Amino acid sequence: MIKLTKMPYGGDYNPEQWPEEVWEEDMRLFRQAGIDMVSVNVFGWGRIQPEEDVYDFGWLDRVLDLLQANGIRACLGTGTAVYPSWLGRRHAELQRVDFQGRKRKYGGRANFCPNSPVFRRYASALTERVAERYKDHPALAIWHVSNEYNGYCYCDNCADAFRRWLKERYGSVERVNEAWSTSFWNHLYYDWEDIVTPTETTIFWGDSKASYSGMVLDYMRFQSDSLLECYRMERAILKRITPGVPVTTNFMGYWKELDYFKWAREIDVITWDSYPEPGHTPARTAMWHDLMRGLKGGQPFLLLEQAPDHAQWMDYNVPKRPGVMRLWSYQAMARGADSVMFFQLRQSRGGGEKLHGAVIPHAGHGGTRVFREVAALGGELECLGDTLVGGVTPARIGLLFDWEIWWALELCAGPTKDLKYIDQVLKVYTAFYDQSLQVDLLHPDMDFAGYDILAAPALYMVPDGLAEKLERFTAAGGTFITTFFSGLADAHDRIVTGGYPGPLRKLLGIWVEESDILLPGVKNRVVAPQPAPAHTSQADAAHTTPEAPLLQPGEAFDCTLMCDILHTEGAEVHAVYGGDYYAGTPAVTCNRFGEGEAWYVATDADPRFMAGWVRRAVRKHGIAPVLETPVDVEAARRVKDGIAFIIVLNHAAESRTVRLNEACTDLLSGRLLCGDEELEPYGVRLLVHAETGASRVR
Ligand code: GLA
Ligand code: ZN
Repeated sequence: MIKLTKMPYGGDYNPEQWPEEVWEEDMRLFRQAGIDMVSVNVFGWGRIQPEEDVYDFGWLDRVLDLLQANGIRACLGTGTAVYPSWLGRRHAELQRVDFQGRKRKYGGRANFCPNSPVFRRYASALTERVAERYKDHPALAIWHVSNEYNGYCYCDNCADAFRRWLKERYGSVERVNEAWSTSFWNHLYYDWEDIVTPTETTIFWGDSKASYSGMVLDYMRFQSDSLLECYRMERAILKRITPGVPVTTNFMGYWKELDYFKWAREIDVITWDSYPEPGHTPARTAMWHDLMRGLKGGQPFLLLEQAPDHAQWMDYNVPKRPGVMRLWSYQAMARGADSVMFFQLRQSRGGGEKLHGAVIPHAGHGGTRVFREVAALGGELECLGDTLVGGVTPARIGLLFDWEIWWALELCAGPTKDLKYIDQVLKVYTAFYDQSLQVDLLHPDMDFAGYDILAAPALYMVPDGLAEKLERFTAAGGTFITTFFSGLADAHDRIVTGGYPGPLRKLLGIWVEESDILLPGVKNRVVAPQPAPAHTSQADAAHTTPEAPLLQPGEAFDCTLMCDILHTEGAEVHAVYGGDYYAGTPAVTCNRFGEGEAWYVATDADPRFMAGWVRRAVRKHGIAPVLETPVDVEAARRVKDGIAFIIVLNHAAESRTVRLNEACTDLLSGRLLCGDEELEPYGVRLLVHAETGASRVR
């Protein structure tokens, strides 16, 4: 791992787009802005290897030497994200076939078939050359493999590799038929050769729903693995030549195509690119960061890219208001980032990203608002030194997240097109976030010990062993919560028959008989149960007097999207539906299980309902918020060497007041704070308890 004496600060640098005279000026401006780490050679292949047998490293040597002379370290790209046109001209087989079945021609990036032997051979050769060339260069800090791996390929190479992948997993075609439920429409396979790639022209219907979801699920696993194999191939070369240098590739947050939990095992330090879009809530970005931190079980990550002001690829590329770049940088640091980096350092003159914001804009100098803000933050990070670096973010609340569940849920034809995995996870996350509670995003394979509350919204697919693990968690005193449309499918997306929620039925103490689907704009109500609900059975009625009611008599919340209609099998009823043919039947249940509780929220209830549930659950476990904050103010905690740092972020364009019950030092201003503190619009405070804090600032 790299030893950091301060947070690296910088971003993507593309000197190859500029004459060398400009480079000296870049260095001057970088120094002025406090920039000390840049990503270079991310797309360098075509420049380094202009012909099959010709390598030209001169320009990159000069760039790295210049960086070194200016005290700037390199996040050094292997350059394999875009292959050179001569390679495409000679070997059409390395070009992808897209989902529509079209063979791609040369152009764009990430346009290689991950299973192409030609691509793999040439990409390894380049990686080997780059690594040999720069293994001892003092500027080399970390390897940046390829760039934002993405996209699937459906070509013949991939079809062959898919069949091999299936043979290894299933052994026989019969077992594939079994796993993919191909007796449906008698779509049986007789020979491995019968299996083709699942493009739009084969077995799909619509643009994402699959008639054989088990097959598509496997294809998604396989394509994620195939790209991962390309990364692993480069990583192995880099590790052989430079065993001490960390290796990474940059992630993209909620990127559906790649199972980042699986990838994370092969990555030394998670790096990722954060581009919130207009309309994204601060909670959504916070969960992004928490997910990226969660990939390696809470290990800090590097924020490798963010826009200093605006992007160019969104529908509306709104510049960040004054203060927002700083605010979002601290939000990342609060949630585990050990660096702040931008795309891009100098704005391109041409090409598709010429209108993307940059630290040095087209004006060519530092006399701009954006540059001044970047330089000011650079100064602050200089002063903070290693204060937060390596700090952890302890949490007692876990939130389950799984790419495979996401894939399976959204491959389902039915029950409603509006049911989206990220939306459902984010709703539950936001309920915790709004109360300034720290949450860890966890993969089902991770250890749940140490958590008091575990939420698993939209747990549609239950991988093998998970139900038992959740039972153990709950029996030991944990509070478990899941939501509607959970427990339906196994790891091949086959329904677990005998009654929903299948493997979760015992834990939750319920049986879901059917589900109502609410059209857009249609609502039902979640209300406090009556002593003897009209439509519940004798058994249900026996359980309608919980010890601590979740809802007060007369309290009611709207619900939308979907309403599971269920029977209790031991669970207590904490809320019932207010309307329709299932009025009075359970909408929210709690099953006492061992020492703990397992909750089921059978519908998409108003956020105020979830907020109430969260208050009750954290009270039960004695979990306190990081800080009580007003609306729009986020508070998060990072702990380093036993010292807790509280980062307070005002996401509003107006000022907000927070109450500090204990004296704190704000490390950004050096001020001692106590009582009511007014945060300016987009204001940030980095607080530490007054007695421990002051000495931390350099
Ligand atoms: C990504 C890429 C960069 C650049 C930016 C633009 O994050 O990694 O190369 O294209 O997007 O926002
Ligand atoms: Zn392919």
